[in-house]
Amino acid sequence: MAGMVCVMGRVAAVLRCVLVVVIPLCVGQTNLKSPQDIEVYAVNTNFTLRWNYTGDGTNVTFSAQYQCFDDLQTNEPEWRELSGCQNVSHTECDFSSAITAYYDVHHLRIRAERREDKSPWSSIFEMVPYEIALIGPPEIALQSINGDIKIKVSPPEANQVRKIWLNPLLFKYNVVIWENSSNAEEILPIDVIEGLAPETTYCLKVQATIPLDYQEGLFSPIHCIKTTRKVNDLLCPTNVRVFALNMKFYLLWNNHYKEHVNYTVQYLTGFLKNLYDDYSSKWQKVSGCENIADMKCNLSSVIQPTSASHYFRVQAMNEYNKTCLSKDIKVDPLVTNEIGPPDVKVDISDVLLHIKITPPGGPANEIMSDLYDLSYNILYWKNSSDNEEVKTKETKQTIATISDLTPSTLYCVKVQAFSKAYNKSSDFSKEECVGTPGGKSLPLIILATFAVALIAVLIVASLLIFFLYQAYNKIKYMFFPSCRTPLNIEGFGGQLFSSPYVPTAEEPVEICYIIESSITEEVNQIDLKDDRHFKHGSRDSGNYSYDDNTSQSKGSEETLGKEIL
Ligand SMILES: *[C@@H]1O[C@H](CO)[C@@H](O)[C@H](O)[C@H]1NC(C)=O
Ligand SMILES: *[C@@H]1O[C@H](CO)[C@@H](O)[C@H](O)[C@H]1NC(C)=O
Ligand SMILES: *[C@@H]1O[C@H](CO)[C@@H](O)[C@H](O)[C@H]1NC(C)=O
Ligand SMILES: *[C@@H]1O[C@H](CO)[C@@H](O)[C@H](O)[C@H]1NC(C)=O
Ligand SMILES: *[C@@H]1O[C@H](CO)[C@@H](O)[C@H](O)[C@H]1NC(C)=O
Ligand SMILES: *[C@@H]1O[C@H](CO)[C@@H](O)[C@H](O)[C@H]1NC(C)=O
Ligand SMILES: *[C@@H]1O[C@H](CO)[C@@H](O)[C@H](O)[C@H]1NC(C)=O
Ligand SMILES: *[C@@H]1O[C@H](CO)[C@@H](O)[C@H](O)[C@H]1NC(C)=O
Ligand SMILES: *[C@@H]1O[C@H](CO)[C@@H](O)[C@H](O)[C@H]1NC(C)=O
Ligand SMILES: *[C@@H]1O[C@H](CO)[C@@H](O)[C@H](O)[C@H]1NC(C)=O
Repeated sequence: MAGMVCVMGRVAAVLRCVLVVVIPLCVGQTNLKSPQDIEVYAVNTNFTLRWNYTGDGTNVTFSAQYQCFDDLQTNEPEWRELSGCQNVSHTECDFSSAITAYYDVHHLRIRAERREDKSPWSSIFEMVPYEIALIGPPEIALQSINGDIKIKVSPPEANQVRKIWLNPLLFKYNVVIWENSSNAEEILPIDVIEGLAPETTYCLKVQATIPLDYQEGLFSPIHCIKTTRKVNDLLCPTNVRVFALNMKFYLLWNNHYKEHVNYTVQYLTGFLKNLYDDYSSKWQKVSGCENIADMKCNLSSVIQPTSASHYFRVQAMNEYNKTCLSKDIKVDPLVTNEIGPPDVKVDISDVLLHIKITPPGGPANEIMSDLYDLSYNILYWKNSSDNEEVKTKETKQTIATISDLTPSTLYCVKVQAFSKAYNKSSDFSKEECVGTPGGKSLPLIILATFAVALIAVLIVASLLIFFLYQAYNKIKYMFFPSCRTPLNIEGFGGQLFSSPYVPTAEEPVEICYIIESSITEEVNQIDLKDDRHFKHGSRDSGNYSYDDNTSQSKGSEETLGKEIL
């Protein structure tokens, strides 16, 4: 809406402008040309209007007007005279004093005048001072210290009353230093440029930028300075470094001094270095690291996961109370810290592999998972002789399940924690392995079942044959009875069973009934066993087909589970 109003306002302005232009033309009193190519050049709060004039410039002066659109007013603001740009005879004028609202839209226009004669207004030039202004060069002071160059930067507008860059803390500084090379590097307002050749003249220039607004400033004038010879003091601690894992911070350093030395670790809150004040007196001692003989310091009393950045340095002191300071090192907790591997536990139930992840640093470091917004990379694979592919799964949860498992297979899992926001990842956890059920005993069970079933079938078959034979005999006896009496049979004795023509007496019939009942039982059992055997067989074949086609595995697994139950 605001944009609409604004556009409408501008259209109206243009229309009025056209009217203003047309009326005097109609009156026909001028042939003065309008100025062209209006532009504004601004550095800090210095504003210059420039234009071109192609008409006859004799005795011509120029006068400009401006409109300021502040957010509150809805009406078209009035055109006002632009002070500093009235009756000027050059094609440029300084109107710095007229501009105070650096964030508001301004319209500028200009016309040529010769006594009473006035040209039409030029086209309108629109600007927001803050957007059009360039950042002026900062002021710099250089000092040569032990082979390094110490540089102190004052922000642009440091000594000005009127400021367009209201917050000098938003400035970042780029220095270009050269002897041979000319790469720009970022520096702090008070900084030391190291790694320079001794007794060499270096030249440098500095530029202020506001990265937030994509603004780049002008370079300061070039300053040159000669470095001194570097003196290496053995007492000074070297190679100061931070070891940080799972939010536990330690400062380590080296020293080549032969005699006994005591160390005191000092820290400085990070933002103090961004200020323009001298911070050299603001260093404090790290408790527990005063006058220590170890070359190691526990920084936990100063650095917490949520701390802002800090600088640390080590002061060494020998027995003659001579001291030397190390270089300082920056610790930005979440950036400096390394994430340790998570812990992982695996467990198997039914057809799912359960993975439980303990975040790096354990439960005491939960805040770390939150600050880093940790995710986990789960790698799992079948540990078999043939090279099985490693599958991955990404999760934000600390619990994960994996389905699609092959039975009687050893699965191995390892997990890595990572933070997208900080582009950091941990090492992998130890591998954890677990086997899926239906292991090596399965083929044996199948074999045993098959054997039992086979034996049962054989027994039943032989009994059946025996029964049929008996029945046949009985029938034969009933319809074609033997001429011989039972007494005769008794007389035959031992030949009773050997002869196929043995007549059936009461006792054999009884035996026959007993056999009959046991046969039916047996048959039922055989049916069952047969059935089971068949199913086992089919599952078995299912297993083999599963290896080729994993998509079926879940279904066949479920039937397996039910069958075993
Ligand atoms: C004025 O005209 C000259 C030549 O045509 C051109 O180089 C210059 O950029 C113009 N000035 C402005 C302020 O546009
Ligand atoms: C702005 O103008 C003042 C007065 O004319 C001058 O002293 C100052 O150097 C100018 N600043 C810049 C950055 O040009
Ligand atoms: C310009 O002005 C001067 C004095 O103000 C006058 O003498 C001169 O004649 C004028 N030139 C023209 C072309 O008008
Ligand atoms: C500019 O000239 C006009 C007359 O041409 C005069 O009235 C006005 O006061 C002058 N303004 C300045 C700032 O000199
Ligand atoms: C500058 O260049 C010379 C010769 O090319 C080289 O020997 C010297 O190391 C260079 N210095 C730096 C600081 O790069
Ligand atoms: C480091 O200091 C913290 C708190 O001051 C303490 O909890 C931790 O145990 C210390 N670490 C060692 C290794 O002493
Ligand atoms: C180191 O510090 C300890 C304890 O403050 C002190 O007893 C010892 O004299 C110191 N040694 C040196 C060389 O300063
Ligand atoms: C070192 O300083 C301590 C106290 O600051 C003082 O007691 C001691 O005498 C000094 N030692 C030397 C050798 O100057
Ligand atoms: C995984 O398999 C390899 C060889 O295939 C074997 O050496 C290793 O011990 C197995 N790992 C486990 C945890 O069984
Ligand atoms: C993240 O870190 C890796 C190496 O640790 C690096 O190659 C990559 O460029 C980084 N990505 C971003 C976006 O910083």
